[in-house]
This record gives sequence, structure tokens and C-alpha cells, in this order.
Amino acid sequence: MAARWGWGLLFVAVSLGFLQESSTYEVKDDHDKICILANFSVLFTVEYNIKDKKESKTFPLPESAKVLKNSTCNKGNSSVLAIGFSTHSLEMTFERSKGFYSINNLTFRYNLSDALFFPNSTKGGIQEATAGTDVRAGLNTTYRCINKDRINMTNVVIFLSNVTLEAYLPNNTFSPKLTICCEDGGSTVAPVTTSTPTTSHAPTTPPHNPNVGTYNVTGSGGICLLASMGLQLNVTYLAKDKLQSDVLNLPTTASHSGSCDNNTIFLNLTSGNTRLSFRFAQNTSTEKYFLQGIVVSTRLPPGAARQDLSAFNNSLSALKASVGKSYKCRAEESIWVTSNASLNIFDVQIQAFKIEGGNFGAVEECQLDENNMLIPIIVGAALAGLVLIVLIAYLIGRKRSHAGYQTI
Ligand SMILES: *[C@@H]1O[C@H](CO)[C@@H](O)[C@H](O)[C@H]1NC(C)=O
Ligand SMILES: *[C@@H]1O[C@H](CO)[C@@H](O)[C@H](O)[C@H]1NC(C)=O
Ligand SMILES: *[C@@H]1O[C@H](CO)[C@@H](O)[C@H](O)[C@H]1NC(C)=O
Ligand SMILES: *[C@@H]1O[C@H](CO)[C@@H](O)[C@H](O)[C@H]1NC(C)=O
Ligand SMILES: *[C@@H]1O[C@H](CO)[C@@H](O)[C@H](O)[C@H]1NC(C)=O
Ligand SMILES: *[C@@H]1O[C@H](CO)[C@@H](O)[C@H](O)[C@H]1NC(C)=O
Ligand SMILES: *[C@@H]1O[C@H](CO)[C@@H](O)[C@H](O)[C@H]1NC(C)=O
Ligand SMILES: *[C@@H]1O[C@H](CO)[C@@H](O)[C@H](O)[C@H]1NC(C)=O
Ligand SMILES: *[C@@H]1O[C@H](CO)[C@@H](O)[C@H](O)[C@H]1NC(C)=O
Ligand SMILES: *[C@@H]1O[C@H](CO)[C@@H](O)[C@H](O)[C@H]1NC(C)=O
Ligand SMILES: *[C@@H]1O[C@H](CO)[C@@H](O)[C@H](O)[C@H]1NC(C)=O
Ligand SMILES: *[C@@H]1O[C@H](CO)[C@@H](O)[C@H](O)[C@H]1NC(C)=O
Repeated sequence: MAARWGWGLLFVAVSLGFLQESSTYEVKDDHDKICILANFSVLFTVEYNIKDKKESKTFPLPESAKVLKNSTCNKGNSSVLAIGFSTHSLEMTFERSKGFYSINNLTFRYNLSDALFFPNSTKGGIQEATAGTDVRAGLNTTYRCINKDRINMTNVVIFLSNVTLEAYLPNNTFSPKLTICCEDGGSTVAPVTTSTPTTSHAPTTPPHNPNVGTYNVTGSGGICLLASMGLQLNVTYLAKDKLQSDVLNLPTTASHSGSCDNNTIFLNLTSGNTRLSFRFAQNTSTEKYFLQGIVVSTRLPPGAARQDLSAFNNSLSALKASVGKSYKCRAEESIWVTSNASLNIFDVQIQAFKIEGGNFGAVEECQLDENNMLIPIIVGAALAGLVLIVLIAYLIGRKRSHAGYQTI
């Protein structure tokens, strides 16, 4: 609250012209060393409700906007540039990770009670909109982006343009070396939001297959999920300027919990910073159950641009089998969650919903195993056919040669 009053006072000071006018913002640490230096234009578009309709208001960041006292240098693992104007504020959170700095978070706090900006708003008070950004540059380089960078938030769109900025700068001034953004045709650094930059595989040696863990979920109607499987999470993330993939085996010591009702079963597995949640559903008309959803969250390796990854997909149709029977697959199966995460499942046997006597029911083999079974059968049949042909040829040959001797 005190800080908000502070902004109000700052605004008064600014409007009275006590503070110098400039669109270059700087944040200094206790030793007067600059940790963020930035110069940019911002255009805000805010949607808000006025009597029975939506109003859209677009305005620039005014020249009078000022760096707020609650900007920080290297507090925790980040530095913050907070800029205030009127009773609104824009906050950029910078983070540093191996060789790069980035604006991980952009937060806009706006006051709908401010009739100057939002006339006739039905709602009042401070609103908060937040989003990640693709602003990213190598350490000791100046980030430059002249073209507009559009950042979508709930009810708010922010356009950044004419951006020159640097965080964690070594010399209190912009570094001469530039990182040019993609919008300007730069390619030094791949922006985080681009979905398919060059892919490089993890340099790590492929780990051994995961150990098979057994899990069960019991509800009021008794046991509703029985599973034995080895789980391996495959995450794809941005590190340096490349996409990298890493796999992580879920240890069998992962703790599990879950719940079930008539239509849905949840199985949650947790190990350290990694959480996996499975959602099973059944189709009563086809009498099949299947894995419908997966939620993944995990901590990424130190080199990653972001610390954490979370992904979910609720429109899966995996591990499908008839109710009352168990699904079994010896072959490795890969379940795609999102472009950032997939789950490799090894040696799975699983059964959901109806489970007689707490034991797996009759087995339904997965397609992969059936195909694998088919190959030896085809090879065997082909071999048998070949033997038969050779035998027949031999018999015919013998008969012919007999006939030959007779004619001589
Ligand atoms: C800045 O102050 C506002 C208002 O008190 C607060 O909500 C916000 O979290 C502060 N930001 C930082 C980085 O401390
Ligand atoms: C910041 O931007 C303004 C307006 O574009 C420009 O006049 C000023 O020279 C810039 N300052 C720096 C330090 O780049
Ligand atoms: C974050 O900060 C802690 C100490 O505050 C440090 O141990 C850790 O290495 C930092 N992490 C990163 C990714 O910089
Ligand atoms: C929001 O704006 C109204 C009207 O300008 C003002 O009275 C109020 O103090 C502002 N709220 C905050 C938290 O700054
Ligand atoms: C706000 O409401 C008043 C009275 O209903 C109306 O005269 C005025 O035009 C409205 N202003 C805007 C920006 O909608
Ligand atoms: C923001 O939203 C607009 C309109 O919905 C869309 O065209 C654009 O691709 C979005 N941009 C990003 C970066 O998501
Ligand atoms: C960016 O800077 C150029 C040159 O100073 C200016 O003409 C242009 O209007 C600026 N763009 C925005 C969106 O402020
Ligand atoms: C920092 O400034 C010093 C002296 O002005 C210069 O010698 C040095 O190269 C600068 N370092 C960088 C990274 O710009
Ligand atoms: C992990 O996922 C990536 C990207 O989808 C893929 O190229 C790679 O082969 C996968 N690795 C494993 C071991 O599944
Ligand atoms: C059940 O399966 C049938 C046939 O595949 C499909 O048409 C129907 O949409 C499914 N129902 C649900 C609730 O998934
Ligand atoms: C979710 O999984 C389905 C089925 O594999 C796939 O078609 C869809 O693209 C996935 N959704 C996302 C966001 O990746
Ligand atoms: C379910 O798991 C618990 C321990 O996790 C185990 O003691 C119990 O035997 C299991 N039940 C079945 C039916 O496998």
C-alpha cells in the first residue's frame, strides 16, 4: 500500500516536472552500479467493461513514466525494472542463465478506477496482467529490437518497440556488441516462443531403461487402478540458442496417490521436483478405458533458458483396452504430451476401473507387441513354405530321373 502511495507521489512529482524527462530507464544496485539499462516505447491496449459492452483503450507509456523504488538488482535470481505512471505500473523481470539474460516475465498492473485512462469502467481497482516474453540476449551484448514485439495477456496486449536494453551490463553503459531480435531479422539468438529452431540432441549418453514401478489407486468401491510400468520423461527445452532434449527416468521410489469415481481416475506420481498426473477415462458405449490426460511438471537442467517446464494434454487416447481386461505392452511406447514433453513407457501392464479381486484380468496385447509377434510368424511361415517347395521339387526331380533311366 505504501508503495502505491509512493507511486501517487511520484506521479505528482513527475507531473510537476521535478523529475527529468527521459525514456531511458536504469536500475542501480546499492553500489550505484547499473544492472538494467533500457530504452523503449510501449503501447498498451486494455479491454475493459463499461455498461453492457466492452471498451478497448490504447495508450502509450507516457514520457513521464518513472522507474519505481521497488525495482531490484540481483535480488533472488532476478532483477526487476518497475516503471510507474499515474497509478499503473509495468514490471519487467530479468533473469540470467548460462550466457544469456532474458525478460522472463512482464507484468502490467493497472487501476480501473483511474477515470483518466478507463472512463466509465464498471469495475474498479488494480488489475494484473502477466506474460512471458521472447526478449533474450547474450550476456555482455545489447538487445536491440526496433520492430514491434506483441505480447498477449488476459485483457491486455502490450507492444514493445524501439527497444534498446541490457541487463547485467558490465560497464554501466550499453555493450557495443548487439543481439538483434528475430523481428528485425536477427538470428543470433532464437526467441523462446519460436517452436522449431534447429534441434540438437542432448549430448548425454542415453540412460538405461527406467525400472518398473507398481502403482495402485483405491477408491470407495475398492481398487480402481493397477499399474506396473517403467516411466521415462522426455523434455525438450531451449538452452543456449538450440533446442535440447533430455530424458529422466522416474525412480520406483516415486510417491503415488490418486482418486477414482465412476468416470475418472487420477494417478499422481511425485519424485523430487517432478510431478506426473495421469487421468483415465472410460467410454461406456464402447466399454473401453484409456489414458485421457497427462500433466507434467519438472525442473529443467541448469543450462535451460527456463527453470521449470509444465505441460499437459487432456485429449489423449493411449493405453486403451476393454473394461475388465488389462492392457499390456512389452515394447517401448511413446506418448506425445506437447512439443515440449513426451512420456516413454516401458513394460507396461495396466488396468483401470473394473478390477476383479485386485488382480490383473485377461491380457490385451498392444498393437506394437502384436506386430512384433507377427514378424516371427511370417518368417516362420515363409521358411515352412520354402522347405515344402524344396521337398516337392526334390520329389518331382526324383520321379523325372526315374522315368529318364527307363527310356535309356
Ligand atoms: C512493487 O510494488 C507493488 C505495490 O506495492 C507490489 O505489488 C509489487 O509486487 C512490487 N514489486 C516488486 C518487484 O517488489
Ligand atoms: C532513447 O530513446 C529516445 C527516443 O527514441 C532517444 O531520443 C534517446 O536518444 C534514446 N536514448 C538512448 C540512451 O539510446
Ligand atoms: C539462484 O540463486 C541461488 C542463491 O540465491 C543460487 O544458489 C542458484 O545457483 C541460483 N540459480 C541460478 C539458476 O542462477
Ligand atoms: C486507483 O485510482 C483511484 C482513482 O484515481 C485512486 O483513488 C486509487 O487510490 C487508485 N488505487 C491505487 C491502488 O493506486
Ligand atoms: C461515460 O458515461 C457518460 C455518461 O453516461 C457519457 O456521457 C460519456 O460519453 C461516457 N464516456 C465514455 C468514454 O464512454
Ligand atoms: C496474440 O494474439 C493475436 C490475436 O489473437 C494473434 O494473432 C497473435 O499470434 C498472438 N501473438 C502471440 C505472440 O501469441
Ligand atoms: C521508433 O523510433 C523511430 C525513430 O526515432 C520513430 O520514428 C518511431 O515512431 C518509433 N516508434 C515507436 C512505436 O515509438
Ligand atoms: C569496460 O570499460 C573499460 C574501460 O572503459 C574497457 O576497457 C572495457 O573493454 C569495457 N568492457 C566491456 C565489456 O565493454
Ligand atoms: C525425445 O524427444 C525428442 C523430440 O521429440 C526426440 O527427438 C527424441 O528422440 C526423444 N528421445 C527419446 C529418448 O525418447
Ligand atoms: C465413445 O466411443 C465412440 C466410438 O468410438 C465415440 O463416437 C464416442 O464419442 C465416445 N464417447 C466418449 C464419451 O468418448
Ligand atoms: C494432445 O495429444 C493429441 C493426441 O496425441 C495431439 O493430437 C495434440 O496435438 C496434443 N496437443 C498438444 C497441445 O500438443
Ligand atoms: C497397493 O499398493 C500398496 C503399497 O503401495 C501395496 O501394499 C498393496 O499390496 C497394493 N495393492 C494391490 C492390490 O496391489
